[in-house]
Amino acid sequence: MSVEYPNDLVEKVDQALDGFLPSEEIYPQVLYKAMRYSLFAGGKRFRPVLVLSSALTFDADVEAPMPTACAIEYIHTYSLIHDDLPPVDDDDYRRGRPTCHKVFGVDIAIMAGDALFAEAFSLVARLQKAGSSSKILAVIRELAEASGPGGMVGGQVVDMISTDDQVDLETVTFIHTHKTGRLIKAAVRSGAILAGASSNELELVSLYADHLGLAFQITDDILDEVGTLDELGKAPGADKKQHKVTFPLVMGMEEAKKTAEEEIKKAKMTLEDIRRDTGRLERLADFVITRSS
Ligand code: IPE
Ligand code: IPE
Ligand code: MG
Ligand code: MG
Ligand code: MG
Repeated sequence: MSVEYPNDLVEKVDQALDGFLPSEEIYPQVLYKAMRYSLFAGGKRFRPVLVLSSALTFDADVEAPMPTACAIEYIHTYSLIHDDLPPVDDDDYRRGRPTCHKVFGVDIAIMAGDALFAEAFSLVARLQKAGSSSKILAVIRELAEASGPGGMVGGQVVDMISTDDQVDLETVTFIHTHKTGRLIKAAVRSGAILAGASSNELELVSLYADHLGLAFQITDDILDEVGTLDELGKAPGADKKQHKVTFPLVMGMEEAKKTAEEEIKKAKMTLEDIRRDTGRLERLADFVITRSS
């Protein structure tokens, strides 16, 4: 992991997640165990770190948006559990361990994903105290729209129904901005909304997130070709095996790298128009293209 990555924020998020997530002692234990298994398997906590970093940029206290930050990690983890299922990507490793369905079975893995998705909204509704009710409602809407048919799930469906014999840039861009970009954008926007960013600041930071999210998934495609199981915590080569439409496939590896770098440049340029200390968001942008996991 890049030296610039804010591990102090990751620690805070991990502690908060542990406190928020229901105990494994609750009946039916197998469900809570599966939820915890996937959530605590590691992971960069990139989306919660984005919520906190965005909120800090607009002068909020780091603890203020924590329930929302953790809720986004619940949604992301649910999306990973379902993404790994046999009819979707059929993957055996995730975050350095066997995937949820390998350990608990496909039936429980589906339910653990469903449960995390619902718990995410419960967490925000119960515990997101900082911010006015209208801001909290705006965050709930943000999370729902980013996850749903117009966001992550829509992107996942186009990912599933496309194959590598139809390679066009428009389709792969749709897939990446939806399956991955939209939740990353929701993370950045939620932090800014809760911290009381102005509408102009919200617009600028959303543009930053659009570029960041696309670069994040292009890098994920690149790492699938050049990374190792040890570094990634998931098996490389999965995209080719599954005939996935990726940026390196559509434009070649060198152009894909260049495109990710250009997106990061654009993300950072957008930050220049925000009259705040945007150093944290800038460093996260640099992390996205230098990461090896
Ligand atoms: C993996 O996300 C799936 C994508 C949306 C690209 P991350 O690379 O953030 O995975 P974790 O959370 O660190 O495991
Ligand atoms: C997954 O994209 C995106 C979501 C889980 C929404 P990938 O299928 O490329 O993610 P990995 O490579 O399995 O982490
Ligand atoms: Mg997938
Ligand atoms: Mg996958
Ligand atoms: Mg991938």
